[in-house]
Amino acid sequence: MLAECYPLRRQLGELVAVIELVDVSKTFKGLRRRRVALSKLNLEVREGGVHGFLGPNGSGKTTTIRILLGLIRPSGGSIKVLGRSVPRDLAQTSRDIGSLIEAPAFYGSISAMKNLQLTADLLGLGKARVEEALEIVGLSDRATDKLSTFSLGMKQRLAIASTLLAKPRLLVLDEPANGLDPQGIVEVRELIKGLGTHGGTTVFVSSHQLAEVALMCDRISILKAGQCLLTTDIGSNSAGLVARRYRIRVSDASRARDLLANAGMTVSLHDEYLEVAGDMDPSQITRILASSGEYLSELTQVGSDLEAMYLRVAGEPA
Ligand SMILES: Nc1ncnc2c1ncn2[C@@H]1O[C@H](COP(=O)(O)OP(=O)(O)OP(=O)(O)O)[C@@H](O)[C@H]1O
Ligand SMILES: [Mg+2]
Repeated sequence: MLAECYPLRRQLGELVAVIELVDVSKTFKGLRRRRVALSKLNLEVREGGVHGFLGPNGSGKTTTIRILLGLIRPSGGSIKVLGRSVPRDLAQTSRDIGSLIEAPAFYGSISAMKNLQLTADLLGLGKARVEEALEIVGLSDRATDKLSTFSLGMKQRLAIASTLLAKPRLLVLDEPANGLDPQGIVEVRELIKGLGTHGGTTVFVSSHQLAEVALMCDRISILKAGQCLLTTDIGSNSAGLVARRYRIRVSDASRARDLLANAGMTVSLHDEYLEVAGDMDPSQITRILASSGEYLSELTQVGSDLEAMYLRVAGEPA
């Protein structure tokens, strides 16, 4: 919806791009050689929802984020965040931007709430806002527990709570799921998804995990070697884009196709094999076929549509 009314809203002078990077370059000068981290990077992040910033290791995600937060200076190009130039007008917007680049230092020997209150004190915010932030990240019931008893995923949710204290209009998160176990990844993903949907905050989140990004983002930009290759909406179709596909071989392919299609799977018949797509476990395919006397001679997982798109654009797996 935002995409459709975008030109109109812009004509009306309404702020619809929360991040605008035009021809942004960054070269790091080392002792022996120069390293080009960003090369005329163009990127627009619209207001609302969750925007994923996807790219392999070393593609320039953290450099871009540090530049747009005014932590390092670009070698060239122009940057606007919340409609204001960076770094020139950063002072006017800094309170509207929450960010998480590295894991913040919390004190293990005091409670989550006290840790958060230390940050809130710096912002002039009281206990009520600390409690609200804990509520948003789902940590209210652990608020008085010492931080040393928290899992990594809980610490990361607390870190996100600290970025939410000042009710930012833009939240910038650099690989927030890094180092978390599968449970922690799900917790952080669900939290981020929720912030983009209900929080009144635009979330810009980087990741090198393709499937992760697909499950929590409305749009993604793909970065490779310091350039943005593509920005695309994925929100409504994210489940379809990450659905796994399996290639199977059986003696009677058309019978197998009917059996699987009747079970609600999307099946296409190729010359020598069947391709099955959907949100299922491979054991379901085996079970359905075996129960009707069809036995597999091959079952291979092939990539999702999103992986295929990524490979087409970036040429290497994320
Ligand atoms: N301070 C620095 N000095 C020199 N080179 C740097 C510096 N920071 C980043 N680089 C280089 O810039 C390039 C982009 O790095 P960056 O950290 O932005 O990538 P990234 O996409 O965040 O990678 P990752 O997924 O590993 O976090 C890399 O080649 C990196 O070595
Ligand atoms: Mg990085």
